[in-house]
Amino acid sequence: IGGVTIARNDVVREDDPTNNVPDSIFSKLGMQLHRRDKHPIGIIKNAIYHYFDSNYAKKFETFEDLSPIVTTKQNFDDVLVPADHVSRSLNDTYYVDSQTVLRCHTSAHQAELLREGHRRFLVTGDVYRRDSIDSTHYPVFHQMEGFCVFSPEDWNESGKDSTLYAAEDLKKCLEGLARHLFGAVEMRWVDTYFPFTEPSFELEIYFKEDWLEVLGCGVTEQRILKQSGLENNVAWAFGLGLERLAMVLFDIPDIRLFWSDDERFTSQFGKGELGVKFKPFSKYPPCYKDISFWISESFTENNFCEVVRGIAGDLVEEVKLIDSFTNKKGMTSHCYRIVFRSMERSLTDEEVNDLQSKVRDEVQRKLNVELR
Ligand code: PHE
Repeated sequence: IGGVTIARNDVVREDDPTNNVPDSIFSKLGMQLHRRDKHPIGIIKNAIYHYFDSNYAKKFETFEDLSPIVTTKQNFDDVLVPADHVSRSLNDTYYVDSQTVLRCHTSAHQAELLREGHRRFLVTGDVYRRDSIDSTHYPVFHQMEGFCVFSPEDWNESGKDSTLYAAEDLKKCLEGLARHLFGAVEMRWVDTYFPFTEPSFELEIYFKEDWLEVLGCGVTEQRILKQSGLENNVAWAFGLGLERLAMVLFDIPDIRLFWSDDERFTSQFGKGELGVKFKPFSKYPPCYKDISFWISESFTENNFCEVVRGIAGDLVEEVKLIDSFTNKKGMTSHCYRIVFRSMERSLTDEEVNDLQSKVRDEVQRKLNVELR
């Protein structure tokens, strides 16, 4: 399945000052990796469906082709994201225009599905976030949202209060899912905050000597249920990061690989095969390049990373700040180390020098910084 192609001009008005969707991102719309049964993202989605099918008598409805282009109301207001929350900024979210965004989470569909009368559902799709660059972050990734509404008869016989009942059911459900996918794996719950749930939790899994956050969840804020006339109910919700679950499950070391057409990657996975461990096709050498500049007030790391990604595409593996200082005149200098590495071949010096020189030009032209 190639997915549906979406023409940029049908969606983006070039002259809108709010539009910050570059072509590199735009070209990912409609790829629908989650609908490819032999792709790790599709395999893991199907395994999660299977878990819900076999463990719940009451079925969860599934949605997987809701458009990723949503209104700011769907993405933020409907799930109670405060007006001044950072996730609303142009630095964090891709805006098509001032009222339209590329969804930054599948939670953008909670309210509309509730309003349409759905009570237990799973929503899978591509989500978009401006972010820094490393092996677990990519500006497009996939999430699965789960949502489950309970009625008084569900918690009454348990003798527990409704919120506690939902929170316990939620954790049991997700721990069961983690065991279904991974067998014995080290995991831990961390308390956190989301505008749309209270209490809220994150599940972290131990991977490559570190704790990796793989999902957020919690008991849905009563106001969200009320908007759909569900005053007397309680609900839980979760949002899973499918790439991260797939990285742990298949031992995939770098998130860029999900976008690779290289046969040496794609041929390692098969429909329904959960036991596969990815065998890297030899690691090609990295090439490090540093860049230093005086930043201006408007400088952000996300903007810098987008420039680098716009030029080097998937040849950039990581961007990290390695030095920062402010001089007596109050000017601040940043030094970033860019790691170039292809997952498919060795890069030549010439090629990397050329990329780096383009990065230098573009950074100066677009970001209002002074190269050192
Ligand atoms: N939308 C949250 C995120 O993307 C995850 C989440 C979903 C948290 C549902 C709670 C409930 O980080």
